[in-house]
Amino acid sequence: MLRNVVVRSDVRRIGEDVLVVPVYKNAPLPDGSVVRLKGLGRSTYARFLGKGTFKGDRWETLLVTTGSDEAPPHHVLLLGLGDRGRITAEDGVEAGGAAAKAVSKLGARSAALALDGVGREADRISFAHAFVKGFSLAQYRYMIPDISAESDSLTKLAVLSKSRKRELTAAAQRALLIAQYTARARDMVNAPANMLTPTALAEAAKRTAREHGLACRVIGPAEMRKRKMGAILGVARGSREEPRFVVLEYNRRRKRLPLVCLVGKGVTFDSGGLSLKPWERMNEMKGDMAGAAVAINVVAAAARLRLALRVVAVVPAVENMPDGAASRPGDVITTYAGKTVEILSTDAEGRLVLADGITFVRKHYRPAVLVDFATLTGAVMIALGTRIAAVMGNEQSFINRMIAAGERAGEPVWQLPLDQRFYDSVKGDITDYKNYSGRNGGAITAAALLGKFAGNDPWVHVDIAGTFWNDGTGASYQAKGGTGFGVDLALRFLEDITSGT
Ligand code: BES
Ligand code: MN
Ligand code: ZN
Repeated sequence: MLRNVVVRSDVRRIGEDVLVVPVYKNAPLPDGSVVRLKGLGRSTYARFLGKGTFKGDRWETLLVTTGSDEAPPHHVLLLGLGDRGRITAEDGVEAGGAAAKAVSKLGARSAALALDGVGREADRISFAHAFVKGFSLAQYRYMIPDISAESDSLTKLAVLSKSRKRELTAAAQRALLIAQYTARARDMVNAPANMLTPTALAEAAKRTAREHGLACRVIGPAEMRKRKMGAILGVARGSREEPRFVVLEYNRRRKRLPLVCLVGKGVTFDSGGLSLKPWERMNEMKGDMAGAAVAINVVAAAARLRLALRVVAVVPAVENMPDGAASRPGDVITTYAGKTVEILSTDAEGRLVLADGITFVRKHYRPAVLVDFATLTGAVMIALGTRIAAVMGNEQSFINRMIAAGERAGEPVWQLPLDQRFYDSVKGDITDYKNYSGRNGGAITAAALLGKFAGNDPWVHVDIAGTFWNDGTGASYQAKGGTGFGVDLALRFLEDITSGT
């Protein structure tokens, strides 16, 4: 992946292999000076448009080779932006991803981006951020530890802009860091479940803690039993793997800073348990800890960014398997909160382990807000597809802030209506609650059960079951497999909390 980004205000001296020039649909070449320098003048460009070779449609690319006897860049890549208009962060990551794919194909080691001419000057900061992030992430490839071979070629990007060098440099550096932590989250999601067991996930969290100076605590099954964490223990029963409960803390001693608690669903494999899932695509359930990957990597990135905030990441890590000892449909468990739940489907395990995670937070902390990230329901994918996550909660102001963070991050979230109707639906027949309330409104009824455990404390829930995985039809900057969706989103949310309430 990308290692090095520089911002240069001298837009004419280009030592990189490829110059990327974003262009609007049917628009004149943006300040063509750089490009003309390499023998690709306005007239040449116009010919491409005229012949219909290149129209400037969104993420369309056209490679023009300038000849190796000339000075670099030897290639100019025209990158379509589509119709002129507001350019979102999501557009920026797509553009960066498309550019990186075309540039990598050439085997180039470095590229430059001609930024002047993209949007209005003020929009260029966020475009550059998104572009760098997408450019870097497009080169991500999962490498199985000790098995896959390393391969890295395109490592350098120069952003060319006559103005705002300082802001652009800061944005580019942040983007590089976000891409790095998003890649780490992808690594965790892509790790096979026989390698990333709950124990291994806890070990990975410990390593992350050491690396970032975070406080770290890991709770095993003996202490869980002592604490009566009946929900996570109930899910763990069918697995040979012991559950783990992980707590990471950034700025643990800085008690006066605002505190945000992140809870991440850490189901390292979800077979469904005795309510067994069909085999097709069950492999994707190795990524049922994508919420945990977000929580762990976001608290780490917050430390790296030195955010003026306290952050706690809580991860209930467990494997959901069928077995002679497994929980059965119809079983009743008593959660850490003391509330009873009838297990109607052992496949609705996420809400159970999160219930104990949320209760842990409420017993030990008083956060300004608790945010959970979870691959909670297939229903959310039916509702919103694979590019938008669902957000729900019990306080609209925080939900709004999550929506705004999603826009800035290019990781959109859409609110679903969690209200009394749905809270009523999780009431149990013979217990306080049940863990399944029918197929209808499935993403909301799942959230409603979490809401019961959050009580009146400010809580936001992000269901990433639609967005955590790319089946191959995803965006240019997403490799097949884990997407790392939620890392930038959560960090933007945290940054927003630091800058006042
Ligand atoms: N981990 C799944 C949800 C999921 C589905 C994540 C598809 C990613 C992709 C969750 O534990 C689950 O199985 N949910 C059930 C709930 C149902 C039994 C109420 C579902 O969505 O089918
Ligand atoms: Mn499940
Ligand atoms: Zn699950």
